[in-house]
Amino acid sequence: MRHKAIAIIGGSGFIGSHLVNALVDMGKDVRIATRRRYNARHLTILPIDVIETDVFDPVQLARFVEGADCVINLVAILNSKRGTPYGREFARTHVELPTRIVAACEGKGVHRLIHISALGANPNGPSMYSRSKGDGEKAVHAANVAWTIFRPSVVFGPEDQFLNKFAFLQRTFPVLPLAMPDAKFQPVYVDDVAKAIVNVLDLDAASGQTYELGGPTVYTLEDLVTYCGDVIGKHARIIRLPEALARLQALTFEMAPGEPVISRDNLDSMKVDNVLSGPLAPELGIEPVAIETIAPVYLTGASTRSRFDTFRATAGR
Ligand SMILES: NC(=O)c1ccc[n+]([C@@H]2O[C@H](COP(=O)([O-])OP(=O)(O)OC[C@H]3O[C@@H](n4cnc5c(N)ncnc54)[C@H](OP(=O)(O)O)[C@@H]3O)[C@@H](O)[C@H]2O)c1
Repeated sequence: MRHKAIAIIGGSGFIGSHLVNALVDMGKDVRIATRRRYNARHLTILPIDVIETDVFDPVQLARFVEGADCVINLVAILNSKRGTPYGREFARTHVELPTRIVAACEGKGVHRLIHISALGANPNGPSMYSRSKGDGEKAVHAANVAWTIFRPSVVFGPEDQFLNKFAFLQRTFPVLPLAMPDAKFQPVYVDDVAKAIVNVLDLDAASGQTYELGGPTVYTLEDLVTYCGDVIGKHARIIRLPEALARLQALTFEMAPGEPVISRDNLDSMKVDNVLSGPLAPELGIEPVAIETIAPVYLTGASTRSRFDTFRATAGR
């Protein structure tokens, strides 16, 4: 079955923006829902429809998915205030929203749904993030549509909030108190994530499948911080924090205004290694690129413009 009209929720974000580009390259008709058109300004040069939508409003959500051949959900948050088994915002964003998306797809006869979850999603997981992601997946399992779930490990690429953060911290501070230095990750390149999604979009056999996504190498957090220092030519002295101090550090960040650098829930997520349980599924059709091939280009500013800046410059904005 060829899916032509693709409705993306969360398409303005890091992975979504790369996915939108891949879908446009394939000639798909793409529409994205955004809370504010401004958030998707880097995409408006592309031949897509950017539609301001409150996706939590069932009427607006139904209108957004109507006529789509496939809906893709990329909405997620990293932190939430406590208040439910998952935290209030996690419950709303990771569980209620997928439930509403399923209902909208069923109501409007959309028969294909791709849901981006995360490695470690587990209703009984150690963090509110992992538990809410796990229950979000359960909502998708119950859908009467051809669903596919993706579970990436941490994702890297020019606009990531991961390696860029370690590079920034080491450019800025001489000392880096590091929580969970032995936590393991298998970072995957953002364009490989996008490629895997488009490769199974039209694949009937992908219906009912959950695909893990990771890169070629497993690293500890400390390895990754050290690697970023190597690339930028500036190392902060890493202080490995014991758990009690790590939690105190996270609590301090949580009390400061804005998104915390790290939260106690993030620490809880890292109690489970973020690595694949087996080899990548062959139908994903990707040979994952190594961090060492890509990251130096953007961490050192060798590529002075991200591809989205290039779009904007071309558009004269
Ligand atoms: N990045 C990673 O390392 C990583 C790793 C594992 C799994 N994942 C998963 O991959 C998916 C995409 O991640 P990402 O890094 O691309 O995320 P992102 O950059 O934060 O983008 C998420 C998008 O969701 C929308 N959104 C956020 N909060 C919302 C809310 N309360 N209501 C409605 N829309 C909201 C935003 O769109 P608007 O601002 O336009 O409304 C935003 O563009 C998520 O499910 C994430 O859990 C990511």
